Amino acid sequence: MKTQVGIIGGGPSGLLLSQLLDLQGIETVVLEKHSRDYVLGRIRAGVLEQGFVKLMHEAKCSARMDAEGEVHDGFYIAHDGIRDRVDLKGLTGGDTVMVYGQTELTRDLYDAREKMGGKVIHLAQDVMPYDMTTDAPHLTYTKDGTDHRIDCDYIIGADGFHGVSRKSIPADKITEYERVYPFGWLGVLSRTKPVSPELIYAKHKRGFALCSMRSQTLSRYYIQVPLTDSVDDWSDEAFWAELKRRLPPDVADALETGPSIEKSIAPLRSFVAEPMRYGNLFLAGDAAHIVPPTGARGLNSAASDIYYLYHALLDHYKTGDDTGLEAYSQKALARVWKGQRFSWWMTTLLHSFPQNSSFDNHLQQTDLEYLFSSEKALGSLAENYVGLSF
Ligand code: APR
Ligand code: PHB
Repeated sequence: MKTQVGIIGGGPSGLLLSQLLDLQGIETVVLEKHSRDYVLGRIRAGVLEQGFVKLMHEAKCSARMDAEGEVHDGFYIAHDGIRDRVDLKGLTGGDTVMVYGQTELTRDLYDAREKMGGKVIHLAQDVMPYDMTTDAPHLTYTKDGTDHRIDCDYIIGADGFHGVSRKSIPADKITEYERVYPFGWLGVLSRTKPVSPELIYAKHKRGFALCSMRSQTLSRYYIQVPLTDSVDDWSDEAFWAELKRRLPPDVADALETGPSIEKSIAPLRSFVAEPMRYGNLFLAGDAAHIVPPTGARGLNSAASDIYYLYHALLDHYKTGDDTGLEAYSQKALARVWKGQRFSWWMTTLLHSFPQNSSFDNHLQQTDLEYLFSSEKALGSLAENYVGLSF
């Protein structure tokens, strides 16, 4: 098989790029290791920045998001028994975020690809990129016991943190930067009314908590837990009781509880791989960088990668101009690191760090007091949360 752009990974990054390029007449093939049902069974985050929303519009894939997603003008930070609001709209001069589950967004992208007859190959096993530093790279994979080969002009590694793309770059050609946090988030999804119309990020000495949602009947809650905990250590009752302890009393009293329909623990990690290009292989999204979820940057950090790659490939195919491709890694990383800084800062501000000294704890408390005493500090938080321009 031959195509112009071979994409490894059918997560939001790979699917969105495929959809955008196809709309411009540029051929793509997406190779996804898992089945569609498996990919859509993963519960992921739920806050989209404007840049991502705009790309979904450009991808002609926004109808359900526009109808069912919720526009949020702000969120709360709870601490010391009270709640302070971050007025995103007021602080940024009109910017908001969209609360819409990443799982639903991925479903919309699959549907859009299917409608256009896009080539998305599921259950592609042992995907491998080859000849990446030549003008004729190719991909191989196995499906149903048969070996396949795809020749392409460019390979996009959009196969997430555990994918094969980044790992296929020689170790001396890539540098990895990483911070692993000494805790995880235990998440629960429940068919209950969200406790608050806007998200609540809660700092508490027992640990961080987050009240989020997928819709007005589906809630998503998280609590910080030690890395040594497993899901089996947490009954639904224990989860709700601990969540309530970490929320201001009025919020805890209003919390509607119910059986969990999903419960999982995610470790928190900051990670960046540089550069995001090796010959004609370009990395995008989680394949090149991940953030702790505290700043809601995960998918949004992929948005700018996809935007830059889309425009760079468009310039290449439409006008023969390769400056976008040449500048991709540098441009993408400049924004990626800003997302890293913000996610690290939000995480540091709101979590309990077991190894912290009393000095560290004082600084953390002062950081919070400063935030809510300064419009400029709040403005900086808001500017980053709604997403820096790209
Ligand atoms: N071959 C083919 N596909 C692969 C391989 C492989 N070797 N390894 C992984 N994949 C697939 C995964 O099954 C997954 O569907 O690549 C896809 C990568 O998707 P994501 O991990 O979702 O990464 P990405 O598309 O970059 O999405 C950005 O933002 O909120 C964060 O982590 C969250 O998924 C989110 C990410
Ligand atoms: C979520 O709803 O899953 C969610 C929302 C905001 C975050 C992280 C996760 O910062």
